Amino acid sequence: MAQIQEYQDLVLDALEAVEFKLIRDKADINNDALIFHPAMAHQIFGESETIFGYQGLHVRVLYTAGPLHIYLGVEYEKRVNEISGGEIKADDVVATIAQSLPDGCYFINLDEFLKTLDKADKFQPFGEKLSEYSRRADDGSERLFEIYQCDYKSSSFLKFFTRLQTFILWFVDAASYIDTDDAQWCYFICYEKYKNKDGEYQYATAGYTTVYEYYAYPQNKRPRISQMLILPPFQKLGLATQLVETIYKFYQSQKNVVDITVEDPSEDFQRLRNFVDARLCLELKCFSRDIIKKGFTKEMVREARETLKLNPRQVRKVYELLRLYYTNVADEKEYRAYRLEVKKRLNAVYYKQLKDLQKMERYKMDTEMLRARLPNAKQRMEQLQEEYALIEQDYKNTIDKLRA
Ligand SMILES: CC(C)(COP(=O)(O)OP(=O)(O)OC[C@H]1O[C@@H](n2cnc3c(N)ncnc32)[C@H](O)[C@@H]1OP(=O)(O)O)[C@@H](O)C(=O)NCCC(=O)NCCS
Repeated sequence: MAQIQEYQDLVLDALEAVEFKLIRDKADINNDALIFHPAMAHQIFGESETIFGYQGLHVRVLYTAGPLHIYLGVEYEKRVNEISGGEIKADDVVATIAQSLPDGCYFINLDEFLKTLDKADKFQPFGEKLSEYSRRADDGSERLFEIYQCDYKSSSFLKFFTRLQTFILWFVDAASYIDTDDAQWCYFICYEKYKNKDGEYQYATAGYTTVYEYYAYPQNKRPRISQMLILPPFQKLGLATQLVETIYKFYQSQKNVVDITVEDPSEDFQRLRNFVDARLCLELKCFSRDIIKKGFTKEMVREARETLKLNPRQVRKVYELLRLYYTNVADEKEYRAYRLEVKKRLNAVYYKQLKDLQKMERYKMDTEMLRARLPNAKQRMEQLQEEYALIEQDYKNTIDKLRA
């Protein structure tokens, strides 16, 4: 019994045990302030996100900050192999993580890994620089970031990108690696340009976005933003906002781009996109206070698509957001008109389902099962109110940022 308890104590939370670090300098190896943990580990360690067989386990996943060479190592106080006299074996953490890494693309010898760090000062961004961005750090110093676009498929770039995308299994929900052999992929990568201890500029990789350029008849394309990841030490610095704006500018200047879409956006990303899109639409004629108050128009879709390459669904969201921006919520009539407008959109699917049912009933079809699945009018009103409240809160948060 005591032994079972002892073994249970050896089941560890992978999210705590796994420690990432981006290494700029040898001294960083021992700097615990640089550690960040994964947001998820189910793709590596299974649904329970646990590691069995250790006490005091530290799984070190080190990346050189620019070229992202990888070191994998474990340190622990006790292991079940020794405690059980070899009867029970601890999980082979390095082998498990290595399965998710590209072939042979990691070091288990720290000295070998550090040799790559010696050459990291030569690391240069791939592709063409599209934009730069500076931001004041907490200590008052200026941090510089640059965004590059890369669509050439040199083997050194692809090897680098293969290492970069190893992060997504730990930080992006339901993520999978993209097929880099597919020429329709376009890569946007953000780097920090920083001064090393010799006072020379060096690059550290901060995040990236992949965009798939779908073909659109007859000679057009519809770029779809696929993965986006800003590495945790660089989050909340405005980099994703900058990256999205840079991607927009890149495609807005291309005549054969129909519009830009986003694949399955996370909530965080959708919020960010709403902010960027609303800020851009504020400058457009169709989104002026007077016009927006009269309701949603095809002209808005046309102008936002032609000028900004926004897709129609997103234009509708931006319209609602900006209409609230201009609505005087203290004026009950005006505010009520706004709520009705949004609720009408939210209710459209329910309304259509009801209409279909009524039609079927006119033809004497049996709709009992279908009706049972639909909420009744009272339930639907409650649902609608909840949906509306969430959306309004979301819009209000974005409006606060637009006004800041
Ligand atoms: C979602 C993600 C891309 C955002 O990246 P980011 O660089 O942190 O984004 P930004 O800094 O531009 O904006 C994020 C937030 O920080 C705020 N922010 C921007 N600069 C800031 C600063 N200097 N200080 C504090 N907050 C700041 C923004 O207003 C924004 O607020 P919100 O979350 O309320 O909308 C990033 O968190 C990430 O990679 N997450 C994991 C993967 C993921 O979800 N990807 C999207 C899949 S579609």
